[in-house]
Order: sequence, then structure tokens, then C-alpha cells
Amino acid sequence: MEYVVEMLNIRKEFPGIVANDNITLQLKEGEIHALLGENGAGKSTLMGMLFGMYKPDRGCIKVRGKEVKISNPNVANDLGIGMVHQHFKLVDNFTVTENIILGCEPRKGLTVDIKTAAKKIEELSKQYGLNVDPYAKIENISVGMQQRVEILKMLYRNANVLIFDEPTAVLTPSEIDELISIMKNMTKEGKSIILITHKLKEIKEAANRCTVIRRGKYIGTVDVKDTTEADMAKMMVGREVSFKVEKTEAKPKDIVVKIEDLCVNNNKKVLGLKNFSLDIRAGEIVGIAGVEGNGQTELVEALTGMRSVESGNIIFKGRNIVKDSIRERIDDGMAHIPEDRHKRGLILDYTMEDNMVLKAYKKKPFSNKGLINRAKISEYAQKIIETFDVRSGEGGKSIARSLSGGNQQKGVIGREIESNPDFLIAVQPTRGLDVGSIEYIHKRLVEQRDLGKAVLLVSLELDEVLNVSDRIAVVNNGELVGIVNASETNENEVGLMMAGIKKEEA
Ligand SMILES: Nc1ncnc2c1ncn2[C@@H]1O[C@H](COP(=O)(O)OP(=O)(O)OP(=O)(O)O)[C@@H](O)[C@H]1O
Ligand SMILES: [Mg+2]
Repeated sequence: MEYVVEMLNIRKEFPGIVANDNITLQLKEGEIHALLGENGAGKSTLMGMLFGMYKPDRGCIKVRGKEVKISNPNVANDLGIGMVHQHFKLVDNFTVTENIILGCEPRKGLTVDIKTAAKKIEELSKQYGLNVDPYAKIENISVGMQQRVEILKMLYRNANVLIFDEPTAVLTPSEIDELISIMKNMTKEGKSIILITHKLKEIKEAANRCTVIRRGKYIGTVDVKDTTEADMAKMMVGREVSFKVEKTEAKPKDIVVKIEDLCVNNNKKVLGLKNFSLDIRAGEIVGIAGVEGNGQTELVEALTGMRSVESGNIIFKGRNIVKDSIRERIDDGMAHIPEDRHKRGLILDYTMEDNMVLKAYKKKPFSNKGLINRAKISEYAQKIIETFDVRSGEGGKSIARSLSGGNQQKGVIGREIESNPDFLIAVQPTRGLDVGSIEYIHKRLVEQRDLGKAVLLVSLELDEVLNVSDRIAVVNNGELVGIVNASETNENEVGLMMAGIKKEEA
């Protein structure tokens, strides 16, 4: 039999939106099948039905030719279907093994047989080249490792159909390469994979076939080797997408932010940022390039006031703000698109409307003498939602949690830009966004620059840093390696600097 899984003519409605409208996806045994579509196109919803989290309104699901009703995730497990979610679901203070066996603990008499489980996990880890320590605690391992734990969880339960929902969004470039080779190993062992990603390059590298959906509708399925990245982008967005950022030369004006000899501790209480100095002027975008964990987090948290500094100054519009609170900095004209939209960006149980005024609701015109003006809040939120094309079922009345990952992100970006700051800090602003949205967000960042704002772009995507920034500050091991003009450098040079090799040495 050719197909391991068939999802035929699937329909799913949510209040105000048809998330899946007659979608068909057929998964062949041993293939990596990419699922591509804009933010909010309905990818996670479709996979949620295959994993038993939602019930389709219409259509049928077949597993190995037999029609099935997947009423909950346990049924999916029993059918050999496993899923790594867009946002992981691990217990932080449990070990790897405890997390993996959760819900299906092996017993020896009355006690849980951790040893046997750990041994099996170790064997699986070896077989697929995962390198996971079964006794490590989740809180002590990297995000990349945590993802491998999620993968082991599927393998431990003998899943042979594996769903990955945007697994690479949180990974570093080398972790991405490793994940792709792990996935290829798994297909060699006869497993079949559905891969959701917005990165067309990864689809080209990893996938055999690709199914494209747009606004809940099926567009087509293509053989990846016969299809270019531009073709896929066009199928998905419905128009040509420009991968190049259009911009004129920057016209930098006065210094807005002056960072002087900044020293900041990391979580391990040693210096994560060392004697860091950098000026950011009105009308320029300064990019920070560096491998993850080389001081970027410490820098951003020190600038925004989330972390105290050991020494040094941050002069914002002429005043040292190192002792100011987060709130004071915001009121002073600083905006921050945070790396983790769930922890810092949104309150997931609030409506999008309320989320759009999180930092401003106490001010006019949203409130007057303690009275909240709902109409003004709605109007303001509506404007952001339209401008930034934040798609959801019920617009501003939608609960943030119900929005697709990418649309949550667009909402956060819209809120921060619309707050009309003097200094905008954008950390991984396009993580999880589709190519069309990335194009749009990059345009808006350049527009902010041209409006005379100082913009700091922190991104692990070297392409993005090179394309969007005017100047690039490269960090390594918490130190500034050097600053280069984006128009006069290239991937190679910046890559070397990221490895700590200074320009004159290179
Ligand atoms: N539980 C829910 N309640 C209400 N609406 C929902 C729910 N889940 C999804 N939606 C809506 O269904 C649509 C499709 O969402 P889905 O999460 O499937 O998109 P996606 O293709 O995975 O997007 P992204 O690339 O941004 O993750 C969105 O408009 C979303 O707001
Ligand atoms: Mg999704």
C-alpha cells in the first residue's frame, strides 16, 4: 500500500473562520512530506486533527488504508502517530526519562522501573544519533536538546508517523542541519514524516514532496526536486515574493543610545557581556550578529531593564538609564519585540485588543481619570490588526491563545511599532513568520529607520542581519569583535568574526 496516512477533504471551522476547507494530504511510507502555508493557513489545525486534538467537521482520515476516528492523542499514539508541537510540552524539573515515560510508566511490581526505561531511551538515542542523557533535568538542557527529548518521546512510543510542527524555528543553524539528518535517518528506518516549516531552504534540503495550503484551502502537492523556492513561495502566497530587502542608504543622525563599557552577568552569575560599547543613531538599523548565547540575551535584557548591569552605562537620549525600571524605559520611548512571544510578548488568555494596549491602557486616550475607554481601545487595536495583517477568526475579540503562532508574532510587532518609539529593539522579529510576512516586517523596520528611529536588530539569521542592517556589530563570547558596514561586508567575513576572528587577523 502506498499511503500510510490519508487526510481526505478535511474541513474544520472555528468561530468566525474556516481553518481547513476541503484539505487533502496523503503521506507516503518513508517520505518526508513538507506542509507549507502562510501564517494562519491552517497547518497546525490540520495536524491537530491527525493527532486527535480536534475533531474534523467533515472529511475522513485513513491510516494504512483503514478509516479511523482519532478522538484523542492516546488513539493517535496507538495508531503509531506522534507529534512534536510548535511549543514543547515538557515538565521542567523532571528528568529526560521521567518526561518520556510520563503516562506510560513501565512497572516492576509496584514501583516505576526507571532503569529499564532509561536504558531503552539510551539505546534509541544511540540508534538515531540523538545524544541525549536520560538522567539530565529538562531545565538544565538547551532548547535543541529539549526538542530531541520530544523526538525520543515519539520513538519510545513506537510512532512510525512523525509530525514536526515548525521544529527548526527555535534551533541554531547547526542544530537544524543535525535535525535534518536525524529525520533522514528515521525515514531510512521506514518512518514517515510530516514537516511544517516556513523555511523553503529546509524544504529543499529535507523533503521529498510538499503540500501547499493557502487560507485554509488546498493549493497543490509538488515534488520538491522539480520545484524552486520561488515557485513554492508563489504557490503559498499567491504572488511573487521578493527575498531582497529594498532600501536606500541610511542617513544616520544624532546618537539615540550610547552603550558604554557595559558588563552584564549571565544566569550562571559570570559575565555574559563584557565591556561592550556601541552607539545607535537615529535613522539607522544596527544588527547584532553572533552565534546563540554569545551575549545577545544579556545585552537586550540590560537595555530593556529586565536584567541589572554590573558596570557601565546606557545613555538613552542623553540620560543614563541603567537604574531605570522597565516601565520607565518604555515611557521614555523604548520598544521591544521580545524573543519569546509567549513568555514576554502576550498574555495568552487576554483578547488581542487588550494585548495591543498592554503597555498603554492607563494612558489617554485609552483611559481617562481611571475610566477605560473600550471604544478607543478597539479602534486602535483594529488599526494594528489591519495594518499588520494579523489574521484570526474574531479580530480584536479573539483570545491571543487561539491565534496561529505567526499571527501572534505579527500582533506583537504591530503593537511595538505602533507605540511610536525612539528606540526599537527587535529580537528575532521574523521567527516563525511566512516569507510574505517576513518581507512585510522587513519593510516596516526600514520604514522605522527612515522615520528617524534608532533600530537594534538581534537575529540568529545571518541573512536577515546582512539584508536589513546598515551596520553590523559582531559578538563572540560576550565581547564585541568588531563593527562593519553591511554594504561592505559579506557572509564570509561576518561568519569569521562570529567565530571570534577579528577583521585585521582574517
Ligand atoms: N482553538 C482555536 N480557536 C479559535 N480559532 C483557532 C483555534 N486554533 C486555530 N484557530 C484559527 O484557525 C486559523 C488557522 O490556525 P493554525 O494555527 O492552524 O495556522 P498555521 O497554519 O499553523 O499558522 P502558523 O504558521 O502561524 O503557525 C487561524 O486563523 C487561527 O486563528
Ligand atoms: Mg502553526
